[in-house]
Amino acid sequence: MTANQTANNKPMVRAAGLAKKFGDFSAVDGISFEVRPGETFGMLGPNGAGKTSTLRMMSGLSPVTSGELEIDGIDATTNPRSVRDVIGVVSQHDGLDPDISVRDNLTVYGFYFGLDRGMAGRRADEVLDFFGLRARGGDSVDDLSGGMRRRLTIARAFVSRPRLVILDEPTTGLDPSSRNRVWEQLAILKNSGVTVVMSTHYMEEASILCDRLIIMDEGHILASGTPDELIHEQAGAEVAQVRPEEGQRDSVQRQLKDSGYEISEIGAIFTVRGENGSRADLSGITGARVSYRAANLEDVFLSLTGKDLQDE
Ligand SMILES: Nc1ncnc2c1ncn2[C@@H]1O[C@H](COP(=O)(O)OP(=O)(O)OP(=O)(O)O)[C@@H](O)[C@H]1O
Ligand SMILES: [Mg+2]
Repeated sequence: MTANQTANNKPMVRAAGLAKKFGDFSAVDGISFEVRPGETFGMLGPNGAGKTSTLRMMSGLSPVTSGELEIDGIDATTNPRSVRDVIGVVSQHDGLDPDISVRDNLTVYGFYFGLDRGMAGRRADEVLDFFGLRARGGDSVDDLSGGMRRRLTIARAFVSRPRLVILDEPTTGLDPSSRNRVWEQLAILKNSGVTVVMSTHYMEEASILCDRLIIMDEGHILASGTPDELIHEQAGAEVAQVRPEEGQRDSVQRQLKDSGYEISEIGAIFTVRGENGSRADLSGITGARVSYRAANLEDVFLSLTGKDLQDE
């Protein structure tokens, strides 16, 4: 499962002013970013941010409306077919064939990439082993659990030993233990040198797996950096959580507004971010319990958009 290391430092992906329009609507509004060889690069954003639209252009599956897009040195605006030959794609919807076995789903995919029967079979067995599905190779896809299906979809993208794998929300809808398992496997693959570009709604997933991230909303990039940089720059080290006592919500909200700090409310709890990386001083607040916790990417997103990432 090792990917070839690139000899030079040319970016694996280079997008400049990349745009996707559907009619008059701009799903992706001129975004620029680079993905370096060997890194795991994340796109974090709520529903409709433009993640899938961007990934589909990068996968050679959807025409680029305008701007520049290079994938492993290939101009994706003019050669989407060549792009499809060099990358592995895990789309948001799995597209597995229910009429053939688990293993045949992999070998057929190998044929598409020009592997002969023997080689396709060997690669299929290799990825079945790696993703812990060897014992299910002869089963029908419909007999797999949701987590196994997802692992099979990801496994399939590795049959052709691509240097770049594009994953659109690899763990959405999975239970926590299946999600952990996918994370472990993606972490091992990352150590093998393959470049991964992935989208996610889950800030924990982004923090654990991604070396660098862009945060997208409504077709734009709002911020980019390593998870730590983003957290430090946008949310500070710690945020305060303020839980109003019974009947005190409005009063607490007023006090917080007067404090001048950036606040947001989720459920019955106010989150308060400090300024310039320091934590907010809320010693004067009455009628509420105040506690502090480490800031995370969710706070970054809230700070950038005023919206809750999960709550769309
Ligand atoms: N084929 C299409 N025709 C028209 N509009 C589209 C099409 N595909 C996507 N859009 C619109 O483009 C915007 C971006 O959609 P996209 O699927 O890229 O978002 P996303 O970030 O992947 O969202 P999600 O988290 O829900 O998967 C949305 O407003 C969507 O409705
Ligand atoms: Mg999507």
